[in-house]
Amino acid sequence: MRTLKMLMVVSFVAAFVYGLIGGPAVLSADEDSELEKAMKPIGEKMKALKQTVAMGKNVGVKENAEYIAANVGKAKDHEPPINKDRKAEIPALADEAIAAAKALAAAEGTPDVKAKFFALGNSCKKCHDIFQPEE
Ligand code: HEC
Repeated sequence: MRTLKMLMVVSFVAAFVYGLIGGPAVLSADEDSELEKAMKPIGEKMKALKQTVAMGKNVGVKENAEYIAANVGKAKDHEPPINKDRKAEIPALADEAIAAAKALAAAEGTPDVKAKFFALGNSCKKCHDIFQPEE
């Protein structure tokens, strides 16, 4: 009886420790990471911006650009899936994207919109080139 109780305690502790050290971090292939979940709406706003710019418009970018400025910093809150040894570079890259998104928002209604949109796209790419895994 005592051995059984002991066994139960041991397996409970083992399961708990497993949960702490890596259980939840092991994601199945089709499950989005927290970072992917944070990035998805940013990707959608970017797509909408691209359509606006492709139509040659320089109005209608402010709201989406402000959303990106407010949310792309979430990249700082998560461990990157690859190149973890370079994660110290993330805050500066995220700040660059925030600044680029703010610059696009500020360009609303001016001929600068197109250039600021492409600058924002480059700031996304700079971080993805290092930290986003290939599909
Ligand atoms: C500071 C780094 C960083 C910046 C800046 C950044 N991203 Fe990301 N993004 C990531 C990382 C890392 C991933 C990969 C996450 C993963 O696969 O777990 C990612 C993934 C994505 C994804 C894929 C999400 C999915 O469902 O797989 C989209 C879309 C995306 N980013 C959009 C953007 C856009 C648009 C910008 C610029 C406005 C941007 N990101 C800027 C780090 C960044």
